[in-house]
Amino acid sequence: MLHDLIIEGKIVNPYAIHDVQIAIDNGYITAIRKQGLKSERKIEAQRCLIFPGFIDLHAHLREDSSHKWDYKEDFKSGTAAAVHGGITTVIDMPNTPLPCISTDRLIKKKELARTEGVIDILFYGGVSDSNINTIATMQKEVIAYKIYLAETTGGLYIREDVLPKAIAAVEATAKPLVIHCEDQRVIEKVREGLKVKAHSELRPEEAELSAVKKVLAAASGDTKIKIDIAHVSVYRTLDLIGKRFHCEVTPHHLFFTKKDVQANAFLKVNPPLRSEENRLLLLAAFKSGKIDFLVTDHAPHTKEEKARAFLEAPAGVPNLDTYGNFVAWLIVHCGVPPMLIARVSAYNPAMFLGLHDRGSIEVGKRANLSILDIHKPVKISSECLYTKCKWSPFEGYEFPGAVRHVVIANCRVKNEKCKIYDMENKLKSIIDTD
Ligand code: DOR
Ligand code: ZN
Repeated sequence: MLHDLIIEGKIVNPYAIHDVQIAIDNGYITAIRKQGLKSERKIEAQRCLIFPGFIDLHAHLREDSSHKWDYKEDFKSGTAAAVHGGITTVIDMPNTPLPCISTDRLIKKKELARTEGVIDILFYGGVSDSNINTIATMQKEVIAYKIYLAETTGGLYIREDVLPKAIAAVEATAKPLVIHCEDQRVIEKVREGLKVKAHSELRPEEAELSAVKKVLAAASGDTKIKIDIAHVSVYRTLDLIGKRFHCEVTPHHLFFTKKDVQANAFLKVNPPLRSEENRLLLLAAFKSGKIDFLVTDHAPHTKEEKARAFLEAPAGVPNLDTYGNFVAWLIVHCGVPPMLIARVSAYNPAMFLGLHDRGSIEVGKRANLSILDIHKPVKISSECLYTKCKWSPFEGYEFPGAVRHVVIANCRVKNEKCKIYDMENKLKSIIDTD
């Protein structure tokens, strides 16, 4: 049989690595063999690692029907940046100018995503004081829900006293829940008392630990709900949650510390960067498999906004473009096993969200693949980025590898069978099997 396409190389699954040929037909993986598969079109990726398409559980693509923040990012630029970073499915956060807290807003966002996005964009429904009794009405449109326990970009958050009710409401929908854990009360108390305020002191470790304790108390013992603690910044949070909840970590919390922030707000993020000791402990925990997801928390703001006085500058850094470079750094410089990357960047997020058609490289799954060359050092430069904000926290850093090809199959939003993007050719789609 002549297949649509064959890719040859080292496939990395959550529990095994094999040198094989993958056959792709109609956007699905139809055979995996040592050799002997035939096609007129072949991608030879022997020196690369072929991962299941990365799934980013946590990104802020910024666009909604108000278009007020399109100057920061939109679905077109954000998904191009995602492809550049090897990400083939992205889940968009609800803290946009019109917070995504109703079906009407969701449907409008979905339509924009369908026409502009180049990969699957799925959506969180936000939980606020105003929709807590009606979140079930959104459940058909969302993949999961998001709760913020503190003020951050967009101002969408709930007070801790409504947390048990909010968790119960999400549980009734049977959807997973991601919670931004910083305790607003702790933040407000510190704000009143402190004179000289570093960002990491304004939003101290205690704020994260206190919020996590409140989530532990609010999610009753026999609850079936799947909860993910967003962007863990404090090592001790991992001890608190144990195996009870899932958790995420971002590239910036694994790479930078509060010393890197100093007086400029480019590395101002919520939750803040912490000490070097804490970073090393987080990295060690990541390597030992204690953290379920590696997410971007891609939060683009313009250079002008980030150059403002520290207290006025918005929090957040762009991270989509450089995700593959960062993964290469984890593998080559930190000794992270590639199979662990397949878990935290593809398999675990797929399972958490119930996306059983992706997340590993197996016959019958969608042919979403991220092909990473870990022997191709790259210096990050803002000129090479696809994010609209055109800067990166990693500007000037050299990473040991880069994404070479990305295969995107059966993209729900595009109705395309299979596209292959070639990174050396400016994201040009080199093969289109439609
Ligand atoms: O640093 C952050 N930026 N943390 C958040 O929780 C929100 C995000 C944003 O949307 O800008
Ligand atoms: Zn975020």
